[in-house]
Amino acid sequence: MIDIKSIQTDRLILRAWRDSDFAPFATLNADPEVMQHFPWLLTRAESDDVAGRIVARMAERGWGWYAVEVKGGEPFIGFVGLNVPTYEIPCGPCVEIGWRLSRAAWGKGYATEAARAAVGFGFEILNLPEVVSFTVVANTRSRAVMERLGMIHDSANDFDHPSIEEGHPMRRHVLYRLTASDWRAAAG
Ligand SMILES: CC(C)(COP(=O)(O)OP(=O)(O)OC[C@H]1O[C@@H](n2cnc3c(N)ncnc32)[C@H](O)[C@@H]1OP(=O)(O)O)[C@@H](O)C(=O)NCCC(=O)NCCS
Repeated sequence: MIDIKSIQTDRLILRAWRDSDFAPFATLNADPEVMQHFPWLLTRAESDDVAGRIVARMAERGWGWYAVEVKGGEPFIGFVGLNVPTYEIPCGPCVEIGWRLSRAAWGKGYATEAARAAVGFGFEILNLPEVVSFTVVANTRSRAVMERLGMIHDSANDFDHPSIEEGHPMRRHVLYRLTASDWRAAAG
């Protein structure tokens, strides 16, 4: 097992979760702006459940959705990292890059900075051939992060999310891909 406890960037630390992260995570999961592209806001109990599953998966694999801390600043602004989707999507089995930051942490380049480091870790340490990402069609901020990372929209494989009910406006998802070879070519 490759056990990566933390990843550092210029401004951020991607690290293992602490118990003290659960409360600020619940706050962002209850923020309608952060959760605009999710079907519902999370209660404290639901948020703790999600955080608990993230922690368990990280313990199992040695990597995952890291808690993000600002160096010399906020101890917890959300999560960024890699995950293996548990439901069926048109790339499985695959590894996705994902992110969710508190509203106050948007507009500073933190998501892209953390995601670049996580993708680099995926290709260089885990030797993944490809990383994917997906979101609801209307989530332009998230799609912009994917595009900044150099991910390519694979429109032929856009899909209806299996855990969102038929007819729901958030059901349709766009799929973006980044191969290790494209990543290395862009890095020069
Ligand atoms: C998706 C999400 C992580 C994007 O966050 P973000 O802050 O917009 O993304 P980035 O980290 O790439 O920051 C880019 C912005 O920071 C600005 N910025 C400021 N200082 C910067 C710096 N030093 N370096 C880079 N960018 C900087 C950029 O100009 C850009 O601004 P713009 O959005 O006005 O064009 C955030 O909106 C979020 O958490 N959303 C809710 C959860 C969600 O939808 N997750 C995805 C579900 S699949």
